[in-house]
Amino acid sequence: MDLDTVDKFIVTPWDVEGDIDYTKLIKKFGVSPLEEKTLNRLKMLACGELHTLLRRGVFFSHRDLNWLMDEYEKGNKFYLYTGRGPSGNIHLGHLVPWILTKWLQDKFGVEFIFQLTDDEKFYFSKNLKLDEANKFAHDNMLDVMALGFDPKLTRFIINSEHAGVMYPLAAKVAKRITFSTAKAVFGFKNDSNVGQIFYTAMQSVPAFIKSVEAGKNIPCLIPLGIDQDPHFRVSRDIMVKLGYYKPAILHSRFLPGLKENGKMSASDQDSAIFTGDSKKQVIKKIGRAFTGGRETLQEQKDKGGRPEICNVYQYFYMLFEDDDNALEERKRKCLNGELLCGECKKELAKRINVFLERHSEEKEKAKKIKDELLF
Ligand code: TYM
Repeated sequence: MDLDTVDKFIVTPWDVEGDIDYTKLIKKFGVSPLEEKTLNRLKMLACGELHTLLRRGVFFSHRDLNWLMDEYEKGNKFYLYTGRGPSGNIHLGHLVPWILTKWLQDKFGVEFIFQLTDDEKFYFSKNLKLDEANKFAHDNMLDVMALGFDPKLTRFIINSEHAGVMYPLAAKVAKRITFSTAKAVFGFKNDSNVGQIFYTAMQSVPAFIKSVEAGKNIPCLIPLGIDQDPHFRVSRDIMVKLGYYKPAILHSRFLPGLKENGKMSASDQDSAIFTGDSKKQVIKKIGRAFTGGRETLQEQKDKGGRPEICNVYQYFYMLFEDDDNALEERKRKCLNGELLCGECKKELAKRINVFLERHSEEKEKAKKIKDELLF
């Protein structure tokens, strides 16, 4: 797809490119910035705590979060929903929305539905077979459980396997999406296959399926990377017409890739750290990562580094340094040339490897309970 000539970036569910201006994106998508007042309210409801991803603005915008909190205060508990298009292995970027979802489940003790869209990845990939996408779905769900979700409150819905439950609901949504809307929002062309055009209806179903099951409306909150918002921009109004609540949404920024430009993306293996990467691979990939370092050691010592453009710093900021004081100290030392890129990278690789070691252990344990968690 071509970059927008005005904005010089593009964000769709299948394509994220360019230098993303999140303020512009808020306007373009018609979402609301996540303001301090709203965050403070969430903090109060979450017993006085806010997750680092919220505190540091990684989640930066929302739809209807205040409405969701109004309902919660009235005793109308919400459920959580998010998902994955299983086209391959999981990388650290995918974990960003799921880590917040896990925190929300812990804080509010709520149910969680996770969707695995093997059909979507089949429709949108050139070479991926449906049964291959389905295999990835079964492996990817272990990555989700490895984050520590409560098995008693968590269920997985796999599109190709649970179509019987989903299809009658997807049909009701699909009937209200015209081809011209789908074209305008997603840029479909005459040679787009009809599975692609139908797909948004499938992604909308878990946002109201609990209400269908319960026979009464239950609010839903969806934490996701902002690229997935267009599906819900199309389907939220339709849910109201069908008699259900619109889901509330929390949008995250993208974890950058290891290269100078772009988000962490599975289609560029060298730009991403996968949860199955070996310790050696992590050290090698982080060693090559783009930083805000200077051309020479002397220049770095004299002028200091540039954390504002540094991907390694972003990884600490978003995922690998919870302690605000320690993060500030890292930034200060970088800016005045005391902390050099090599040392910073070594520490990051160490932290990622500690995280991944535990993640693989938890993933292994999740195999035992996996089948009980399917819809
Ligand atoms: P998928 O598999 O492309 O991505 C899964 C989730 O990861 C987010 N994500 C990122 N977040 C931060 N930084 C990154 N570098 C990064 N890369 C990916 C995505 O935004 C997404 O939230 N169609 C969906 C699957 C799906 C879904 C949903 C997603 C089904 N139902 C409901 C969100 C909510 C997909 O292909 O996601």
